[in-house]
Amino acid sequence: MRVGVVLPAAGAGTRLGPGAPKALRELAGEPLLVHAVRRLRECPSVGPIVVAAPVAHVTTVTTLLELYDVTVVAGGAQRPDSVAAGLAVLPADVDLVLVHDAARALVPVSVVESVIAALRAGARAVVPVVAVADTVKRVDAAGTVVATVPRADLRVAQTPQGFAREVLESAHAPRGVPPLGHSNDGHTDDAGMAEAAGVTVETVPGAAEAFKVTTAFDLAVAEAVLARGGARG
Ligand code: C5P
Repeated sequence: MRVGVVLPAAGAGTRLGPGAPKALRELAGEPLLVHAVRRLRECPSVGPIVVAAPVAHVTTVTTLLELYDVTVVAGGAQRPDSVAAGLAVLPADVDLVLVHDAARALVPVSVVESVIAALRAGARAVVPVVAVADTVKRVDAAGTVVATVPRADLRVAQTPQGFAREVLESAHAPRGVPPLGHSNDGHTDDAGMAEAAGVTVETVPGAAEAFKVTTAFDLAVAEAVLARGGARG
């Protein structure tokens, strides 16, 4: 079964502060996106890769990734639009699709390969997860705690998330016409969309190094991880 990857990389990255779109911010002298693509290219099971780039940076991204044999398309206004744009141009012979945030630039190869292994073993949707270290509170609009959520059965979802191609396609197809009782708005990951469509989502162990670079602090952490040489997988 051929594995393709859609890499949504079209986010603005406003939480990093003013500057270039997040995927183009530099980590150890190279854009986050280049780190992410290089990791994926180190994975023996990964075939075609499609990058959804910020619409104003398609040419820049195409040049940046010349060495890595990727297809670059323009991303959309919301993350699911970027994923759908990438999915639309994946070659027809790809039957398993991973969706991976460009912002998770240091994902270990072992995490990618275990998502693929779970798909090959028959899972229809797979998400890498890690345990929640902190105690989690639910608060109301005023910031007052209304509940302490038991954390033992909570997990933080990472990427790459893997899908049988038809599962991902049908999860994305009904944007704007959600099934009764569901909404496609507000989904921050693809597994959530598959879940809303009634698909069973399996989990595999994620890794601390697969964290999403969101803030300037995260960029500093990523630099430290790279300097330590500890994110290889
Ligand atoms: O915004 P968030 O951190 O959830 O973004 C996760 C990933 O989705 C990032 O790699 C970002 O570039 C991508 N994204 C996108 N198109 C958007 C918004 C986010 O490709 N419109």
